[in-house]
Amino acid sequence: MALGSPHQRTTPLCSLGVGYRDRFGVAGPERRRLRSLPSIIRGNYHNEVEQPMTAVPRLSSRIGPRLRRGVSSRVTKLHREQLLRARIARYRSLSTNHGAFEDTRIVTPLLALGTGTIRAHGVQFGYLPSPSAYDRYTHVEARGAATIEIGAGSVLNNACVLVAEGTEIRLGRDVLLGPEVAIYDSDFHNLNPELRKRGDAAVAPVTVGDNVFIGTRATVLKGVTIGRNSIVGSGSVVTQDIPQGVIAAGNPCRIIRALDPEPAEDLGRPLGTMAEGGE
Ligand SMILES: CC(C)(COP(=O)(O)OP(=O)(O)OC[C@H]1O[C@@H](n2cnc3c(N)ncnc32)[C@H](O)[C@@H]1OP(=O)(O)O)[C@@H](O)C(=O)NCCC(=O)NCCS
Repeated sequence: MALGSPHQRTTPLCSLGVGYRDRFGVAGPERRRLRSLPSIIRGNYHNEVEQPMTAVPRLSSRIGPRLRRGVSSRVTKLHREQLLRARIARYRSLSTNHGAFEDTRIVTPLLALGTGTIRAHGVQFGYLPSPSAYDRYTHVEARGAATIEIGAGSVLNNACVLVAEGTEIRLGRDVLLGPEVAIYDSDFHNLNPELRKRGDAAVAPVTVGDNVFIGTRATVLKGVTIGRNSIVGSGSVVTQDIPQGVIAAGNPCRIIRALDPEPAEDLGRPLGTMAEGGE
């Protein structure tokens, strides 16, 4: 079929060689309806409606396989970025705490809640590619008058949870949190069985020192201080203080060994490059 024939105009080739139908799987009145929606709703639509994994352009057989492959991968990347942007916008619009996010890079969705103070300067939320980038969000919540502060150069991988109920959670500079790390300053329920649903919960501040690395799915509980440079192993439950310069792991988290005291050679990696690597 010749390019530009009336039949083909229903799936026009744009400058990338891909029509709207190809990217979104809709055409005609449905396409016009979608286009008229605000982008945030359009984003939800694409996000919530199952998109077939094969949503790549159908191109004319006149285009050679090499070009077709190039265009397909470009479109898939655009499609992915578009879905992610829509999700980030969606969680921003659901956020009730607009905190102080200066020079902050939001790579995957972030939900910021609560009436407390959230400060994050020079921080990266989310990491690509890492688990949960496309289906989870990072939850940062400062309830009441609580404070959550995250130091410059820190990177929180996807789907982390930080909830401060009554005191504060402070992360120093250059802290690394793996995917799904959770940090709480509270038990959230009174331990007395009679008061569990209505009594006050025990709260105590959490402090994570500079350059601490916390592995995936670790949980840090109320009142804990983790000393600078230390590492917490994946899946650990940290119930007590961890001194500086050690590797600690397990449930409950215990020191495994001290870290090499020699400072590592400075490789000079700039903030943010981690988010771009890998794909
Ligand atoms: C904690 C960690 C850094 C330790 O690495 P390591 O120094 O190579 O440790 P080893 O594998 O030599 O293990 C030393 C001991 O600690 C135990 N251990 C290691 N990691 C553990 C963990 N996460 N939980 C419980 N125990 C752990 C080992 O079983 C071993 O015990 P043993 O001496 O009784 O046999 C590593 O296991 C880890 O958890 N890395 C985090 C990975 C991650 O989540 N990355 C985030 C992705 S962005």
